[in-house]
Amino acid sequence: MTNNAFARDMATALAGRPRSISPKYFYDAEGSRLFDRICELPEYYPTRTEIGILERSAGEMAALAGAGAEIVEFGAGSLRKVRLLLQAFDRPARYLPIDISGEHLRDAAAILRAEFPGLEVQPLVGDYTQSLALPAPVGHGKRIGFFPGSTLGNFTPDEAVAFLQRAAAVLQGGALLLGADLVKDPHVLHAAYNDGQGVTAAFNLNLLARANRELGTNFNLARFHHYAFYNAALQRIEMHLVSRERHSVTLAEERYLVEEGESLHTENSYKFTVDGLRAMAVRAGFRPGPVWTDPERLFSVHWLHAP
Ligand code: AVI
Repeated sequence: MTNNAFARDMATALAGRPRSISPKYFYDAEGSRLFDRICELPEYYPTRTEIGILERSAGEMAALAGAGAEIVEFGAGSLRKVRLLLQAFDRPARYLPIDISGEHLRDAAAILRAEFPGLEVQPLVGDYTQSLALPAPVGHGKRIGFFPGSTLGNFTPDEAVAFLQRAAAVLQGGALLLGADLVKDPHVLHAAYNDGQGVTAAFNLNLLARANRELGTNFNLARFHHYAFYNAALQRIEMHLVSRERHSVTLAEERYLVEEGESLHTENSYKFTVDGLRAMAVRAGFRPGPVWTDPERLFSVHWLHAP
């Protein structure tokens, strides 16, 4: 992702009403570090809950995948999660992580090659939200896509269906293993995005710090509130940066006036029902298989056959 795209999207956001920008810009090195901290927070249940589901059910998932499967991970996410699959699967043929950050990919690949000496690890640098071109399959095993963490929830519903359609096409004959956060008590959701240590606030505000570092904007972070709430009608957490006072911001010699109380909408995190997610998968061309949840039904992991 180039700074040009970031500059263009930030200019569009500042000029627009309401103002909004893609959450993909959260993830520079500092944003990724803050996100790793979020995953460890007591209030942020998704990561540990999904890991618990994978720990309990990786054997069943491995049986569905069969011997010699290859795993395609969308985003070089948490090594902890894919490791659970690689340990459980019967002689996995290859691991293909796809990520926009070459550095993140190289690190992940080196660690997994050392841990699984017989495993072919082939990282692919690219934006899996735009297109999905994969090398020809190796061996006769199934191709299993892995998209954990409920990252699907950061897409708009249209983007989510479009992504699932592309995934169904490249996984033909195999399946997608998809992690999806579930609708639940709004207080639990609210707490997960308004943690007591302020890490999520720092993650949100880092978007402005990143713009200052990379685009030469002059955002004063103290002039913004982190504001996250659950929009029950739309089944999503919304994250915003709300201006505490009237002020102006400069980007590429252009001045933008920001009024007191105006918001920059930085992220949606959609929550799903099990049935709603399965219906969306059907629309995208999948045939839904087993679903695993935790005892409190906080999070779900879906096996979606790609016919
Ligand atoms: C990466 N994504 C699934 C996270 C989420 O929960 O939507 C990003 C996040 N934003 C705030 N906290 C975590």
